[in-house]
Amino acid sequence: MTAKYAIILAAGQGTRMKSKLYKVLHPVCGKPMVDHVLTEIEKNDMQEVVTIVGHGAQKVKETLGDRTEYALQAEQLGTGHAVLQAESILGQKDGMTIIACGDTPLFTAKTFEELFEYHKQKGAVATVLTAHTDNPFGYGRIIRNEIGIVEKIVEQKDATEKEAAVKEINTGVYCFDNRELFKALHGIKNDNAQGEYYLPDVMEIFQKEGKVVAAYQMKDFEESMGVNDRIALSKATKVMQRRINENLMRQGVTLIDPENTYIDIDVKVGADTVIEPGVYLKGKTVIGEDCFIGANSQIVDSVIENNVTVTSSMIEESIMHEGSDVGPNGHLRPLAEIGKNAHIGNFVEVKKAQIGENTKVGHLSYVGDATLGRNINVGCGTVFVNYDGMNKHHTNVGDYSFIGSGSNIVAPVNIADHAYVAAGSTITNDIDAHDMGIARGRQINKKGYFDKYPVADAAKKAEEKNK
Ligand code: UD1
Ligand code: CA
Repeated sequence: MTAKYAIILAAGQGTRMKSKLYKVLHPVCGKPMVDHVLTEIEKNDMQEVVTIVGHGAQKVKETLGDRTEYALQAEQLGTGHAVLQAESILGQKDGMTIIACGDTPLFTAKTFEELFEYHKQKGAVATVLTAHTDNPFGYGRIIRNEIGIVEKIVEQKDATEKEAAVKEINTGVYCFDNRELFKALHGIKNDNAQGEYYLPDVMEIFQKEGKVVAAYQMKDFEESMGVNDRIALSKATKVMQRRINENLMRQGVTLIDPENTYIDIDVKVGADTVIEPGVYLKGKTVIGEDCFIGANSQIVDSVIENNVTVTSSMIEESIMHEGSDVGPNGHLRPLAEIGKNAHIGNFVEVKKAQIGENTKVGHLSYVGDATLGRNINVGCGTVFVNYDGMNKHHTNVGDYSFIGSGSNIVAPVNIADHAYVAAGSTITNDIDAHDMGIARGRQINKKGYFDKYPVADAAKKAEEKNK
């Protein structure tokens, strides 16, 4: 079997992005563009992949890790020069080499495979992947001779009017005979509008040497979209999002309005889950079956088990066990763990806390740095006072306990099982099992107080007016 190699070009700065972030690291649906390219290439059983790095080399390496080898292009002298930097790694090897750019995130493994197949079938030394578009501006144009053979590829900036009118474009992906590629690269020159060594120029070299050059035209131009600026980035994101969403719908997920549902590529969602518009599911989030994710919820790097209801809430790095629910307007901050059938109601914030099975925190509360057992009721407006200005402290609340509304639980403190906190208490001491803690001033009523003060006059006037 012929060995398969790949080279990914990722050394450019991406000036047109006007960004501090290197172009190929801009994410599309939660994954950097260059990672999309590598992920799809990897699916083709590659012997070796070399990524050419330059601008932001360190950041690109951190992003892709040891999934690929790297060659440094210290100065960006063009795509041909970039490929040449892989010569010390690949130059002496027999096989086929695919080249792709780090800024074309939409290519699929299937297209790379088809290109390999076509290349082999044609017995070519070089095959360029082309596409047809009515708006070819910015792309290299495929110039074919009278009998349809690729003669050369001309860049936008070097194209004559006639060449610029050609609507078949270079997608920036090629397949080469590996040894022939590196031989030809030494022959390219930089006498063009940009003063760069263009990789596509090797096609003309092969053609002149009488070698077989082929072009494989893919059906779907959209897939070849190169991202050079933020407008293209938004377009590529739209295409990727549609793919992700359609894939999920095929797997049995209901998206009420897929055009307005934003799901990252690595997110998983189980069948019969219903997702309303405006929802963002990000990172490594996994959602089970039969869940309801209500409008405008955001879920980041979290695990949502089966049968969970999330109503207009924000969830970060948290776990919701089966049958639990949150919202509307709940906020689960990192390391919240919501037990089976537990209820987190409106305007409740939970951070670094375990909430046991069947426990309810229904309204307007903050639970931070705490371990709550099962079947607890936390009344409205309860605050777990976890921070003394210097350190965070932990609170434990045992099973079946009852926390009355409007309480402050000042950590560190332990409230045992079957314990009771009277409403409005500020708890600073432990409470033993079956006891009640009450910590608030006693009420005194002052006779006739209302009538002594100006409010009484105002009340009287209002009463008369309403008669
Ligand atoms: C390139 C092709 C063009 C094709 C288009 C497809 C050339 C000369 N032109 O144009 O025919 O239609 O892609 O999207 O190849 N890079 C380096 N080192 C360099 C220069 C570029 O690593 O010295 C990398 C960039 O990071 C980028 C890729 O190569 O990922 C393509 O470079 P870019 O400048 O975007 O080329 P285009 O003008 O899009
Ligand atoms: Ca490009």
